[in-house]
Amino acid sequence: MLDKLQQIETAALTALDAVQDEAALDAWRVRYLGRQSELMQVFSGLGQLSKEERPAVGRAANQVKVKLEAALDEKRAALKEAALERALREEKVDVTLPGRAPRRGRLHPSTQTLRRILGILGEMGFQVFTSREVELDEFNFQYLNFPPDHPAREMQDSFYVEAGERGDNPVLLRTHTSPGQIHAMRYYAAMNPDNPPPIRIALPGMCFRYEQITARSEVQFNQVEGLVVGENVTFSDLKGTLAEFARRMFGPQARVRFRASYFPFTEPSAEVDVECFVCGGKGCPVCKHSGWLEILGCGMVHPVVLQNGGYDPQRYTGFAFGMGPERQAMLRHKIEDIRYFWGNDIRFLKQF
Ligand code: DAH
Repeated sequence: MLDKLQQIETAALTALDAVQDEAALDAWRVRYLGRQSELMQVFSGLGQLSKEERPAVGRAANQVKVKLEAALDEKRAALKEAALERALREEKVDVTLPGRAPRRGRLHPSTQTLRRILGILGEMGFQVFTSREVELDEFNFQYLNFPPDHPAREMQDSFYVEAGERGDNPVLLRTHTSPGQIHAMRYYAAMNPDNPPPIRIALPGMCFRYEQITARSEVQFNQVEGLVVGENVTFSDLKGTLAEFARRMFGPQARVRFRASYFPFTEPSAEVDVECFVCGGKGCPVCKHSGWLEILGCGMVHPVVLQNGGYDPQRYTGFAFGMGPERQAMLRHKIEDIRYFWGNDIRFLKQF
């Protein structure tokens, strides 16, 4: 038995010498120190030995075990050391390689345009007023003087959230930022109901329409609404303000024209065109050879709307306007498909 232990030790230490890596070391441990190893079988066979033999064999087996374990630890440390040295030798950093530039994030083109618009309006004295995206029919349509049978109120045109549950005042996703006019006027009027303060605000935000998605129409888009209310606010103020806005937005040489139009919540109403900044007014595919680009709708706030906001139309007048940042970004950058905006294609987004 003692001879056999001696053989086990010699065989194990010889085998250990040949071990070159962690995996082989693990295999060695299983083979020579594992539960099924010859050495362990000696331990489990101790009971069969005679009383006289048992202590000597037990002691010798223990010595072999201690020795092999020590050899294992030593080998493991040596392998680690060797691996580290190899890594230091072979994995040199080539400092002459060109670096990899970190990729820079950027703002979405809609956000960039939105901020530009709000920046200009801010310089012109407009404060930002944010309003909700989920609206009541009352605010989105009724207080804005939409007649009950207006086509925009059809199920096919608006996203209704709780259709049918509130009679003739259902919840819907706002189809424009104009309902914010009512919220804002009521907010300011509540400060001093007998003497409501003048208002000069910009209302930005997402709007939703139940549209067939095409290159020209999306189900969601941003708008920026403007609202000015006060005593003696006139159509000249509207024209001057919007012409100045267009110059700051599209360049000092940008000419604008006002075309008569119709919106239920303004009277009179107009649409503003800016001279095509792609061709300078000579005519090109972007302006469809007209030389002009439509950029916003506007008008004098309808007396009914002022009344609904808590402002006495006998005493106050006001003007309002609404524009689409995506539309302006499309014109400016000649983006021919509105679906790119929410397509989340990094190849599109990183161009801005
Ligand atoms: N709300 C209109 C739309 O969604 C845009 C608009 C037109 C807003 C005229 C206004 C305005 O404030 O005066 O098309």
